[in-house]
Amino acid sequence: MDHFLYRNGILHAEDVPLPEIAASVGTPVYVYSTATLTRHFQVFSDALAGMPHLICYAMKANSNQAVLRVMAGLGAGMDVVSGGEYRRAKAAGVPGERIVFSGVGKTREEMTLALEGGIRQFNVESEPELLALDEVARGLGLRAPVAIRVNPDVDAKTHAKIATGKSENKFGIPIARAREVYAEAARLEGIEITGIDVHIGSQLTGLAPYEAAFTRVADLTEALRADGHSITRLDLGGGLGIPYRRANEAPPLPFDYGEVIRRTVGHLGCEIEIEPGRLIAGNAGILLTEVIYLKKGEGRDFLIVDSAMNDLIRPAMYDAWHDIVPVVEATPGAELRPFDVVGPVCESGDTFARARDLPDAAAGDLLAFRSAGAYGAVMASEYNSRPLIPEVLVSGDQFAVVRARPSFEEMLARDSIPPWLSET
Ligand code: LLP
Repeated sequence: MDHFLYRNGILHAEDVPLPEIAASVGTPVYVYSTATLTRHFQVFSDALAGMPHLICYAMKANSNQAVLRVMAGLGAGMDVVSGGEYRRAKAAGVPGERIVFSGVGKTREEMTLALEGGIRQFNVESEPELLALDEVARGLGLRAPVAIRVNPDVDAKTHAKIATGKSENKFGIPIARAREVYAEAARLEGIEITGIDVHIGSQLTGLAPYEAAFTRVADLTEALRADGHSITRLDLGGGLGIPYRRANEAPPLPFDYGEVIRRTVGHLGCEIEIEPGRLIAGNAGILLTEVIYLKKGEGRDFLIVDSAMNDLIRPAMYDAWHDIVPVVEATPGAELRPFDVVGPVCESGDTFARARDLPDAAAGDLLAFRSAGAYGAVMASEYNSRPLIPEVLVSGDQFAVVRARPSFEEMLARDSIPPWLSET
């Protein structure tokens, strides 16, 4: 069920009319729906029903404290990739035993933070990392729970910048070398082997790559058990895609993904962990923006809006498509015509859509970029000295600013002048 719907011709987030948010907070602004976040968590939970499991929300997709609190309240664990994310997860009330730590470049400081604060497992991505973790854990008189991330050499058939499961990618240990690395891990006093980790990429639109990767993980589980290791958990990563183009995309459903998990690894008696990010947060958010100018061009017209690539970088970075809809519903049968929807930043890459068929629009109109709840606000910057875009969370008929737009004074106050320049 979609919680961004027209009511009486006005686009709402749950029960809140979007123009009300625009008037109160200003634009551009991200708006998130609690009901959608909740439903997406539930859909995964239902898909894995009957198997012991933990859904570790990949908070890199959207790590606003309010969003994390919603997830924590549902019983989610978290997948974190930095000391900052670990701190955010803890601040949102997630206990250490529900936090998994991923990432290819964990520092010793980050390892110490997580070991001291409590951690479910480190997903270790290389032998040097394994040795460093062993040393840090021994130094603290602790043992670090570890799953080793294996690279199954599977083509995830997604955008090259977000595919991670091929041997040419920087992630994990080649699966062919896994037995050797597990043997090494078993000799290290500061390491406690708990399971295997795999993540093959993001925005996957088919299940076959999962089937191939999980089958390899199942075979590896049996091989490692035969070698005498105790493998009790399988972390199967995230990556399930979402429909960015509502009109013509239908990525696999979490239920069918759950069936693939059941079929490939369900017989092993392991606790299953998954790390969904995009599917939980993506369609739970929109970016609300206002048209500044309609500029007539040669052969095409430009809608210049008040959001830019610094607020939502996905189109510039991955040529990503986001559906764009007017906040005031077009009259049925209204003619559509192609517009380039662009931001004010001084780069041609600051383009959200080219020749997009839209109903007529004019300065002052509000537009919504859909599917912007994941990898939107978290990738925003202040490029061109545009204040960091604020975020709003809706729940039923209530809304609240969950990250305020900084004032220009606050922006400037973050810089400081060195003494040798301060006299001028
Ligand atoms: N687990 C690991 C180890 C990951 O690296 C990722 C995403 C996830 C889980 C969550 O994947 P998801 O369920 O969200 O697909 N900025 C890009 C996406 C980067 C994904 C990075 N890793 C974008 O805007 O498309």
